[in-house]
Amino acid sequence: MRNFDQNSITQAVLERVAAAPDTRTRQISEALVRHLHDFVREIRPTQEEWAKGIAFLTDTGQMCTGARQEFILLSDTLGVSMLVDAINHDHQGAVTESTVLGPFYVEGPPEAALGSDISGDLPGEPMYVSGSVAAADGSPLAGAIVDVWHSDEDGYYDVQHSEDAADLVARARFRTDVQGRFHFWSIKPAAYPIPHDGPVGKMLEAQGRHPWRPAHVHFMIAAPGHEKLVTHVFVAGDQYLDSDAVFGVKDSLISDFTEQPAGTAPDGRTLDRPWCRLTYDFKLNPASEAAHRAA
Ligand code: BEZ
Ligand code: FE
Repeated sequence: MRNFDQNSITQAVLERVAAAPDTRTRQISEALVRHLHDFVREIRPTQEEWAKGIAFLTDTGQMCTGARQEFILLSDTLGVSMLVDAINHDHQGAVTESTVLGPFYVEGPPEAALGSDISGDLPGEPMYVSGSVAAADGSPLAGAIVDVWHSDEDGYYDVQHSEDAADLVARARFRTDVQGRFHFWSIKPAAYPIPHDGPVGKMLEAQGRHPWRPAHVHFMIAAPGHEKLVTHVFVAGDQYLDSDAVFGVKDSLISDFTEQPAGTAPDGRTLDRPWCRLTYDFKLNPASEAAHRAA
């Protein structure tokens, strides 16, 4: 086959990838070729524009390190991470909704006892977080793993300051008690711009967009026989709830972080200054049949 024009080239590539031995690889390759060729036919790039596009992807890859994943930021800011999330979590109300993982999760976070203060020496308004983890029918899940991480009062995560595991702060792993409950202390997180000193930041600027995310606390919750939940709880009233740079906000995940006067907290701690309180109850979806088989 030779002499392809701007339409026949698509069919030629489709016929070539049809030889893929794995049917899923074939399906994905065919869709990629169809959509990519249609995209190029629609935008009709000049040679210089196409070279710029390739340079952008090259810069995105070269920006990636152990501590910086620019391709995740690209996926997030183009709404693809939330699209994949929506396709895979269509639970319609019975269980807690999910949202983006983001690039700041650390595998195997430090274990902490219920009631601990995970804020280290960080300055900020004290925040008391309590809640529960239950199955979809409301039955409590004892021993569920609750991973928590959030920004400091300036909007930075620990891993943006240091790659040293000893410096991890405002993140921890808790296990729910026999009633499926958890509680801990930290400081109230702030809204923050996603890292925007790389190609994704340039893209946002070129698209006339800001890089900000509304303030939130991340949760990753796991319990045997249930789907792992990756979500956040957002601070009600935040100015970026309707323009999150990564499209992650859902109404059900917005909560009042209620302001409390100085005094005695529910766990008996006495505070000499105002603090805030977040209470959130999570419900997990049962693991799918496929996940059970794979386990
Ligand atoms: C985050 O919430 O940590 C996050 C999510 C997406 C991109 C950047 C940060
Ligand atoms: Fe975050």
